[in-house]
Amino acid sequence: TTAAPKRVLICDEMNPGNLDFPGFELEYEGNLPREEILRRLPDFDALITRSRTKVDRELIDAAGPRLKVIGRGGVGVDNIDLDYASLRGLLVLNAPESNNVSAAELAIMHLMAAARGLTRSDAKTRAGDWDRKFLGLELKDRTLGIIGLGRIGSMVADRAQGIRMNVVAYDPYVPESKFERLGVKRAATLDELLAQVDAVTVHTPLTDETRGMLGEAELAKLKPGSIAVNAARGGIIDEQALVAALNSGHLFAAGIDVFVDEPPTPDHIFLHAKNLGITAHLGANTVEAQERVGAEIVDRVLAALQGDVSKGA
Ligand code: MLT
Repeated sequence: TTAAPKRVLICDEMNPGNLDFPGFELEYEGNLPREEILRRLPDFDALITRSRTKVDRELIDAAGPRLKVIGRGGVGVDNIDLDYASLRGLLVLNAPESNNVSAAELAIMHLMAAARGLTRSDAKTRAGDWDRKFLGLELKDRTLGIIGLGRIGSMVADRAQGIRMNVVAYDPYVPESKFERLGVKRAATLDELLAQVDAVTVHTPLTDETRGMLGEAELAKLKPGSIAVNAARGGIIDEQALVAALNSGHLFAAGIDVFVDEPPTPDHIFLHAKNLGITAHLGANTVEAQERVGAEIVDRVLAALQGDVSKGA
């Protein structure tokens, strides 16, 4: 007798690529409502999500005993209750590299857009106000502070050096040798970084340690006229504090790709803040990244279901 096929549910928007693997049944439902996920999950061996689906206790409990693997089509696993998943013996896998270039490019885009007033000029011009008085900032010879010098932070450093910025980073988990190799100056503390930069960008996961890492006190330590970018996770830069620093004019501008609650409600404070450019969590959304992410996470999940856990996170 042949074994029953292992079933995999892909419940968030992605490019899963080839779904035809012998011995497996892959089902792609780009935007499956949560109730449907909860209802159907007991019939699957693995679930693949992006950040939209919260893999919390309720969802894991709804799954029942058949579910073995949770795949995250992307880097951040903050949408998954890792403790509870591990308690229930679930293997959690991500796609740690496939979208890094796209994320880094989006952070640089936000930095440049903030420096040159892209969103305010766009809005004014559309409103019939041909405002050529606005003066932006040249980035060459200014200092970019990168918080988190992991895969994405390192790529941001390299791109920023390409536009001739000086780069300083704060990351207590990265060895000195990596700073040297990247030609990035090391800040021993967060305060040391904040005091010397003209722009700051965060590239850490969202954890209890990084949530609100740039709050009111930290933003106040930036030089007046600085730029802040968050293309990592909502809340690493405190939302209220960022808006206050923008509206008071302490910050020149900011760029935001991520919100604490996504999607934001129409009255979200960011939507009325001064000099803030916004994108809708699009860091990983390129043709290239989504092709790679889909292929990588499907490959890792199927390997794990076949019993090859050497590819585990
Ligand atoms: C990630 O953590 O890689 C991003 O959130 C990707 C995504 O948009 O799903």
